Amino acid sequence: MSKKVNDKSIWNEIYEKEEFKPGWSSPGTDPNLISIIGDCLKQRCIGSYKMLDIGCGNGRNSMIVEEFPSYALEYTGADFADKAVEFCKGKYSGSKKFVHLDITEDNLPLDDHYDIIIDCGCFHSIPPEARAAYLKNVSKRADKSTLYIIGAWYREKEHIETKEPSYFPYLYLDEWFLNSNDIRDIFGKEFNLLFEIIDNQVYNGLNKGFAYFILRKC
Ligand SMILES: C[S@@+](CC[C@H](N)C(=O)[O-])C[C@H]1O[C@@H](n2cnc3c(N)ncnc32)[C@H](O)[C@@H]1O
Repeated sequence: MSKKVNDKSIWNEIYEKEEFKPGWSSPGTDPNLISIIGDCLKQRCIGSYKMLDIGCGNGRNSMIVEEFPSYALEYTGADFADKAVEFCKGKYSGSKKFVHLDITEDNLPLDDHYDIIIDCGCFHSIPPEARAAYLKNVSKRADKSTLYIIGAWYREKEHIETKEPSYFPYLYLDEWFLNSNDIRDIFGKEFNLLFEIIDNQVYNGLNKGFAYFILRKC
């Protein structure tokens, strides 16, 4: 039976096989996200802020909430792998919300606006033909005050014709490698790229490193 590249069943399969601790979650809560969000919050008033985690997986980055107790972050994690969402609902209690959805579809059960939007390793697995739908859904939930961070495999070279091979050892799972020019090409009409951070170590020194693109609505 043929499967679509990056079909949600593949993600469910990975989470079940890896008992919800897939290799990429080994650093625990992503330390760079904590630092970028911390720097941003320092410039804001103490208060409550809504945070959306697109492709939340096993929910490891929901722990960002605990890092900033004075800011009362209202966390929503969203993922199209229903097994991952069920896992998160069982593991994290309290006010954290987890919703099962495909970020490229219409009529999503999400709020109209978020103050912080993170995507750690989801966008880089969205096939190019679905990127416009992803962008539309994110863009309408952001405004100029929204901090939007995309974490993705870093693509060092400027001119690579084809995407890199699949993420070993899973069949049917492809991930794209991105640099700041790619991000400007894809998001530039809706978002300005403020800056990027490349970390060569955070995910075990894999590939050319992992990039964090920090965006703000135009
Ligand atoms: C590499 S994992 C990263 C998970 C999590 N963000 C983390 O950092 O541990 C990518 C996640 O994106 C989810 N995903 C991929 N495409 C999606 C889509 N179209 N809508 C919602 N979630 C998606 C997958 O199910 C998977 O959980």
